[in-house]
Amino acid sequence: AALNIQPNPEQLAQAAADFISAQVRVKPELNILVATGHTPMATYAELARRAEAGEVDFSRATAVQLDEYLGIDDDDPRSLWGWMRRSFVEPLRLTRTVRLESPAQFGTALARLGGLDLAVLGLGPNGHLGFNEPPSLPDAPTRTLALTPASLESNRAYWGELAVPEGAITAGMDVILAARQTLLLVGGTHKRAVLHAALKGPETPEVPASFLRRTALTVIADEAAWA
Ligand code: F6R
Repeated sequence: AALNIQPNPEQLAQAAADFISAQVRVKPELNILVATGHTPMATYAELARRAEAGEVDFSRATAVQLDEYLGIDDDDPRSLWGWMRRSFVEPLRLTRTVRLESPAQFGTALARLGGLDLAVLGLGPNGHLGFNEPPSLPDAPTRTLALTPASLESNRAYWGELAVPEGAITAGMDVILAARQTLLLVGGTHKRAVLHAALKGPETPEVPASFLRRTALTVIADEAAWA
C-alpha cells in the first residue's frame, strides 16, 4: 500500500483531491464508488471548488453509491443517497450515477460499467468498509444486513435527534476489493488503533479493512490518525 501522511485534515483533503483529480484527468469516464461519512467531506468540497474553477471535469464520470439505510425516503435527512447527491454528485456536476437499490440491480449496473475504476472509502471505527461490518470475508457479496451495535452507536453522531435506521444495504467486499484502485481516507486520533490494525495487523474478517492490502491501495491519513 502507498501510505501518504498529511499534517492536518486540510492537507489530507488537498492530497485526496489531487489523487482523484489525477485519475479523472487520465480517464474522464472514471467509475467512482463514493463513501459518505465525515472524513471525505472536505475532499469533496475541494473537488467541487476545482470543478467550479474549471480545473477538473467530472461530467463524464459515474458516481456509484456505496451504502444505504433501508426504509428511508430519498428526501429523509438520513438518506445516504441524499448525502452523496448534496456533497458529491451535484457540486462536482456529475450527470451519471448508479444507485444501490438491490444486490441484483447493483450487480447488473456494475457489470454494464465494466467494474469500478476507483473506490473512495472511509474507515469505520470498528474496521468496517461501507456497511461490511465485522466479521466480513473478502468474498462477502452486496447484501442487506442488520447494523451492529457499534455501528448504530457511531452512526448516531450523524443524525442528532433522529433514530439510526437498523437495516442497511452495502456494496459487497467482493465489489470493493475488485476496484482497480482504492483510496482510503483516515483522519483523527479516534481512528489510530483501527488504522494500525487495518494496515499492520493480520488480515482478518474481524477488521474488514485489513483486506484492502490485497488491492492497489493508497491510504491518505493525517498525523493524528497515524502518529
Ligand atoms: C459511509 C460509509 C462508512 C464510513 C465510515 C467512516 O458511506 O460507508 O463506512 O466511511 O463509517 O465514517 P467517518 O468518515 O464519518 O468516520
